[in-house]
Amino acid sequence: MTLSRVLILGTLALTTMMSPGDSEDIVADHVGSYGIEVYQSYGPSGQFTEEFDGDELFYVDLEKKETVWRLPVFSTFSGFDPQNALNEIATSKQGLNILIKRSNYTAATNEVPEVTLFPKSPVMLGQPNTLVCLVDNIFPPVINVTWLKNRHSVTEGVSETSFLAKKDHSFLKFSYLTFLPSADDIYDCKVEHWGLDEPLLKHWEPEIPAPMSELTETVVCALGLTVGLVGIVVGTVFIIQGLRSSGASRHQRPL
Ligand SMILES: *[C@@H]1O[C@H](CO)[C@@H](O)[C@H](O)[C@H]1NC(C)=O
Ligand SMILES: *[C@@H]1O[C@H](CO)[C@@H](O)[C@H](O)[C@H]1NC(C)=O
Repeated sequence: MTLSRVLILGTLALTTMMSPGDSEDIVADHVGSYGIEVYQSYGPSGQFTEEFDGDELFYVDLEKKETVWRLPVFSTFSGFDPQNALNEIATSKQGLNILIKRSNYTAATNEVPEVTLFPKSPVMLGQPNTLVCLVDNIFPPVINVTWLKNRHSVTEGVSETSFLAKKDHSFLKFSYLTFLPSADDIYDCKVEHWGLDEPLLKHWEPEIPAPMSELTETVVCALGLTVGLVGIVVGTVFIIQGLRSSGASRHQRPL
C-alpha cells in the first residue's frame, strides 16, 4: 500500500516536469489544457486524456489501444493516434522509476475527497433524469465511485468521466446514474479512497412537497366560507345603514 502511494507521488511530479508544452494555460476567452497524462504503477495503470475548457474531449483506452471521444461530434473532424498516448505513458513509466528512487520512496499524502450529489435537471416524478456525483480534491487518482439504489448496488445506467486535472494537482471526477424519480426510491453515491477511513456514502432522495392533508383542506375551505359569510353580513349591515340614513335625511328635509 505504502509503496504504491510512493509511486503515485512520483507520477505527478513527473507529469509536471516532463511535459513542457503539454499542459499550458492560455489566458484568453478559453483556457486550454493539453495532454493530461498520468501514470501510476498501482494497478499498474495510467490515464491519457485531453481536455478543452474543462471538458473532457477524449481519453485513450490504454488496454484496447483506442481513442475514445467523449463528444462523438469531435471524432468526425479530428483524430488522435492512440500510439502517441502509449508512447508518452511508456516514457512516464521510465521517468517515474528514476523519480521514485530520487524521492527515496517518499510517500504521497492522501487527500480527503469532497463529494457532492445532485440531480442534473429539476426532479419531476416519473420523468427520466440523471444523478451527478461530483468527486473533487481526489489525490492520488485511485478511486472507486459506485452507486446504491435503496441500499443495493446498481451498475446499469452508470457512467463516469476520466480524472480531470486541476491546477493544484488534485483531480475531479464525475459519475452519472440515469434514473426515473419515484417517491419510494433513495440513492447513494459511494466513494472509496485511501484518504477516507471508510467508504463515504452521499445520500439523495427526491424531495416531494407534502400533499395538503384533508384536514388542512377542510380548514382552508371553512375559513374561506366564513370570511365570505362575514363579508356578506357586514356588507348587508352597511347597505341597510346607508339606506336608513339617506331615508332619514330625506324625511328630515321637509321639516
Ligand atoms: C532513504 O531512506 C532510507 C530508509 O528509510 C534511509 O536509511 C536513508 O537515510 C534515506 N536517504 C535519504 C537520502 O534520505
Ligand atoms: C476499489 O475496489 C476494489 C475492488 O473491490 C478494491 O480492491 C480496491 O481496494 C478499491 N479501491 C479503493 C481505493 O478503495
